[in-house]
Amino acid sequence: MADDLPLAGRGCIVTGGSRGIGAAVVRLALAQGADVVFGYHSEEERARALADELRSAHPDQHCVPLRVQVADTTQAEGFATTALDRLGRLDVLVNNAGVTRDAVFARMGPQQWHDVIATNLDSMYTITKPLLMPLVKQRSGAIINISSSSGLHGIPGQTAYSAAKAGVIGFTKALAKEIGARGVTVNAVAPGLIDTDMTAAIPQDKAEFLKSLIPGQAFGSPEDVAHLVCFLASDRARYITGQAIEVSGGLVV
Ligand SMILES: NC(=O)c1ccc[n+]([C@@H]2O[C@H](COP(=O)([O-])OP(=O)(O)OC[C@H]3O[C@@H](n4cnc5c(N)ncnc54)[C@H](OP(=O)(O)O)[C@@H]3O)[C@@H](O)[C@H]2O)c1
Repeated sequence: MADDLPLAGRGCIVTGGSRGIGAAVVRLALAQGADVVFGYHSEEERARALADELRSAHPDQHCVPLRVQVADTTQAEGFATTALDRLGRLDVLVNNAGVTRDAVFARMGPQQWHDVIATNLDSMYTITKPLLMPLVKQRSGAIINISSSSGLHGIPGQTAYSAAKAGVIGFTKALAKEIGARGVTVNAVAPGLIDTDMTAAIPQDKAEFLKSLIPGQAFGSPEDVAHLVCFLASDRARYITGQAIEVSGGLVV
């Protein structure tokens, strides 16, 4: 493992790679030597533009975008099969795709609840299930699940999202114990407030208030999260498993 290319030769699958945190993970994993297949859902043009740019920058590595609705078991299986086929080997799975549908619980409709649980939590099952045996049989690999500070601490207006992201942490810890003996690590990364389309939807006055709660008075960047994800994906983190690590600039300390 070259020091500057800790993911050289690794096959890496990232869901929600078309923008935001997922795109930063795709970009950094390629820069660290990985071959990457990434999922997108609605942003086909953005996904293709990212893949074209990264293939030009890393002509000897794979960078393949594939459409998938992560809440759909059949689509997830098709995505997993094609991704494995394109990569030839799997070493790293990053379950990153997610959505918010914020509303105070008294006003939350069933569709909002369902969308959030299906995309953020059901996807842990739909995407990880078909990819687990290849990792277990290989006896090495890393699964990184993107949770949230909301799942660790609970945030008003986000009951569904907090429940889903807390579920991601429970899933992570249980799976880490199930497959630790097979040489596969499973960790959760819990971002706080990160500058992406997701937080751009927060009204300006509320965003300013939230920034005032962060010691550094600023949202994080997608790269701040990607660096931890790629570290957990590398051999440098081989003795770290079952953890939920927050990247929040000290939002809650
Ligand atoms: N930004 C934050 O402050 C923050 C904080 C804590 C946790 N997180 C978590 O970090 C992860 C990434 O968030 P982000 O801020 O980067 O979000 P984002 O910019 O809104 O991007 C979301 C990504 O998920 C994909 N996606 C959404 N629904 C999907 C579905 N049903 N099936 C497949 N893909 C789907 C999107 O694909 P398309 O582009 O094709 O639509 C996109 O690539 C999420 O799990 C989020 O909950 C974010």
